[in-house]
Amino acid sequence: MSTKPRVQRRKYSISKRANQLSPSGIRKFFDMLASIEGVISLGVGEPDYATPWHICEAAIESLEKGQTMYTSNLGMPELRQELSRHLKNNHDLDYDPDRELLITVGVSEALDLTMRAILNTGNEVIMTDPCYVSYPPSVILAEGKPVMIPTSEEDHFEVSAADIESRITSRTRAILIGYPANPTGAVMSRDKLAEIAELARRNHLLVVSDEIYARLVYGVEHTCVAALPGMKESTVLLGGFSKAYAMTGWRIGYAAAPREIIAAMTKIHQYTMMCAPTMGQVAAIEALKSGEDSAAEMVEDYNRRRLVMVKGLRNIGLSCFEPKGAFYAFPSIRCTGMTSEDFAEKLLTEEKVAVVPGSAFGECGEGYVRCCYATSLTDIEEALLRMRRFVNKYRVA
Ligand SMILES: Cc1ncc(COP(=O)(O)O)c(C=O)c1O
Repeated sequence: MSTKPRVQRRKYSISKRANQLSPSGIRKFFDMLASIEGVISLGVGEPDYATPWHICEAAIESLEKGQTMYTSNLGMPELRQELSRHLKNNHDLDYDPDRELLITVGVSEALDLTMRAILNTGNEVIMTDPCYVSYPPSVILAEGKPVMIPTSEEDHFEVSAADIESRITSRTRAILIGYPANPTGAVMSRDKLAEIAELARRNHLLVVSDEIYARLVYGVEHTCVAALPGMKESTVLLGGFSKAYAMTGWRIGYAAAPREIIAAMTKIHQYTMMCAPTMGQVAAIEALKSGEDSAAEMVEDYNRRRLVMVKGLRNIGLSCFEPKGAFYAFPSIRCTGMTSEDFAEKLLTEEKVAVVPGSAFGECGEGYVRCCYATSLTDIEEALLRMRRFVNKYRVA
């Protein structure tokens, strides 16, 4: 009897670090969406606009000139100078372009670098639930512990200084906030942010403030945390070009922070990324120099879409918190009795509308779905018709 040698499947060893992360709840829907035709997507959190042409042209010109090499680890000096000017003009903040600014591969990298630069094993970072999908993993990958504070529609998805204070321990190192917020569209008032700032200073904590949606506010002011009295030295300000200038694919963001933190982040950045994409940095210079008009036009348009989206969702009978920033509506789908994941999956397969289940953003996102309105009014209106049919079919309350 011949015995066939048994083929042993090689077992790869995957790190605990990677194993403990769950795949993003958003990705799954993108993958499903790609396999279905005729889908209206309210799923992806990115502008439907192409990058303004003058910004593309600046990058094309740089390629024609052969500007295809690495840049300084910190980012091109001209970009850092423009950024420093931008932060001065917009928030009256003085950042030294050579020591206090770092150009990164989107806010995504800036967030990761921040956590790796400031956390030791077991250190805690306080953040809100729901929140942007990358916040907890950025802390976990740095061997820290995310400490979630539940927020609710009743409280406008804002977090209070008192809520934060009750979670501070000897292990707490930072408070991570992101307003205007993804997924809720909430914007925090200056007064509430000032209370959090005061709490942070009193407890010697850093505030990591993700202000990627700073330019996308509607009828309210955005407050830059670093610009609050005495906060520049206690804040890591993260910002980027993806949303305001429709530049998601260029992968440019930045961190503005005390020099010791920027120095630590730069060490990690230089061994991992080396530098942000050169072509993207050239485009970002153009965006800062001459992109304001294009940004203003897009924001005006997002506002029109926001009003249609929120009114439409409410007309369907879904309770919808009024988003004042970013480009997301976050309606409650509780009247259907479904989980947010069931709702999103059924809506996609039955009506070909893609939304993101609120549970992808944390436990407190359950009962909601995220609808991105950075898409055409025609698509928004058609999506609303389909959602009306769907909700009417499944409504239980
Ligand atoms: C709140 C928030 N922060 C950061 C990012 C990542 O932005 P970037 O494209 O600059 O990496 C996103 C992207 O959706 C976001 O919503």
